[in-house]
Amino acid sequence: MRIELVTGDITAERVDAVVNAANSSLLGGGGVDGAIHRRGGPAILEECRALRASQYGRGLAVGQAVVTTAGRLPARWVIHTVGPVFSPDVDRGPLLRSCYTTSLTLAAGLGARSVAFPLISSGVYRWPKDDAVLQALTALHAEPTTVDLIRLVLFDEQTRQIADQVYRTTFPNP
Ligand code: APR
Repeated sequence: MRIELVTGDITAERVDAVVNAANSSLLGGGGVDGAIHRRGGPAILEECRALRASQYGRGLAVGQAVVTTAGRLPARWVIHTVGPVFSPDVDRGPLLRSCYTTSLTLAAGLGARSVAFPLISSGVYRWPKDDAVLQALTALHAEPTTVDLIRLVLFDEQTRQIADQVYRTTFPNP
């Protein structure tokens, strides 16, 4: 399994599964969520609504993940996961790491060989970007998987530089 850091728009990623930084409603939002629904089209929301009408009547719990079609995205699946909102008082790191491990396990179960992740919780949910990267890399490196390629997609150059720095110090001998 290879972990790549890339800079760009996750909706353009040509991978088997794209992970969405959703919210518990599964009914869309801004940021990554808005971009995926905008570019992926209504089929994604239709399947999200069906999930809400069936197993997820109360919404998707933080740290959990579900799969839908990728609609018009250049991917096969979208895996929706709900990140924790950052709290300076409570350590929600395990919940954030669970977003990555649960999504990766779900992707592998589908037979996905390549998965693109956004930096979950580091936008609207205000998680400091350096620790968000550390949580992501720690979770992804710890998880044995049949997925060959994992891409952490950073949306801007500043975040990418933070991620590169965290990667170098966390995994000094790649
Ligand atoms: N591609 C890649 N990364 C993106 C994109 C994109 N198109 N758009 C935003 N990002 C980056 C943000 O800059 C941030 O670093 O993804 C990271 C996560 O930001 P959010 O999308 O705001 O996700 P999050 O912080 O987990 O908040 C989730 O926001 O959009 C709503 O419905 C969503 O309520 C949920 C909440």
